[in-house]
Amino acid sequence: MALLVRPETMERITTPALARQFIAEQIADIKAQVGGKKVLLALSGGVDSSVVAALLIKAIGDQLVCVHVNHGLLRKGEPEQVIEVFRNQMNANLVYVDAVDRFLDKLAGVTDPEEKRKIIGREFIEVFAEEARKLDGIEFLAQGTIWPDILESEAGIKAHHNAGGLPEDLQFELVEPVRILFKDEVRVVGKELGLPDNMVYRQPFPGPGLGVRCPGAITRDRLEAVRESDAILREEFAKNGLEGKVWQYFTVVPDFKSTGVKNGKRTFDWPCIIRAINTTDVMQVTVEHLPDALIDHLVQRIITEVPGINRVLYDFTPKPPATVEYE
Ligand code: XMP
Repeated sequence: MALLVRPETMERITTPALARQFIAEQIADIKAQVGGKKVLLALSGGVDSSVVAALLIKAIGDQLVCVHVNHGLLRKGEPEQVIEVFRNQMNANLVYVDAVDRFLDKLAGVTDPEEKRKIIGREFIEVFAEEARKLDGIEFLAQGTIWPDILESEAGIKAHHNAGGLPEDLQFELVEPVRILFKDEVRVVGKELGLPDNMVYRQPFPGPGLGVRCPGAITRDRLEAVRESDAILREEFAKNGLEGKVWQYFTVVPDFKSTGVKNGKRTFDWPCIIRAINTTDVMQVTVEHLPDALIDHLVQRIITEVPGINRVLYDFTPKPPATVEYE
């Protein structure tokens, strides 16, 4: 019987041997719970849903149906990696939904940050529900709920974003195989399940994705500038040994333009802001100070490789007073 509550005496999963033991127990629990029935999972490619997918594939193979919704606000290469790892390497039953136009059309002209978040959340549920209705015989919904989600929702700190949300006609029994784990334990289990390091040690990424890093009304060209500059930043952090050391780092492209000059001609383009921060609890955040040479290199790459950018800024503001994200 799967545990709903983390036992106080449970040893922290820090080693491959402990991860293997946990995986074996979960496989037995999942098989006992699900039997020969089908399970649905929204697979974002984040650490928690990826580990749940890998566990379920091991336990029940193609009785699992993964749905990956590309809402157009993912980082460069993410949808491709989900398809490569889960469909090509793990043989998962993966439904890939290209909902990019649908989301971006709904978001066009919307400037209010909360309204943007609501549209993204609502649309996600709608797309996922539509896919679920196309499938026959699904009785279970798998979720990447982890122990801090349960603790925070019990303490009233945040609504547990995984629970519920689906329409009345789509009520499934939940399968939550990493429910009693802390995040660091999910990573150890994911590593043992053979997921790639850049999936297992991924920095936090907000549900509304790049949408909150494209402040104001999202346009496709500015969103592309965020995606490309973010890809350059991640590549350079990886090359310089900062991946996994700096807690979170990303770029923001605000919706104002300034004057510049390129090849003797006046330009009128956006700035790109780099943010790199460290924290333990995300309530208090300090700024990572990068070496000058790396800053110079990032500036050069971003202004030459990213269309629409003529200026690069670095955000030196801790939290408080600034939040991590710009919206
Ligand atoms: P803030 O901006 O509130 O961010 O200082 C703290 C941490 O939370 C992440 N974040 C979000 N995650 N949905 C999410 O899943 C959201 O709407 C959201 N907003 C912020 C942010 O990336 C940072 O790690």
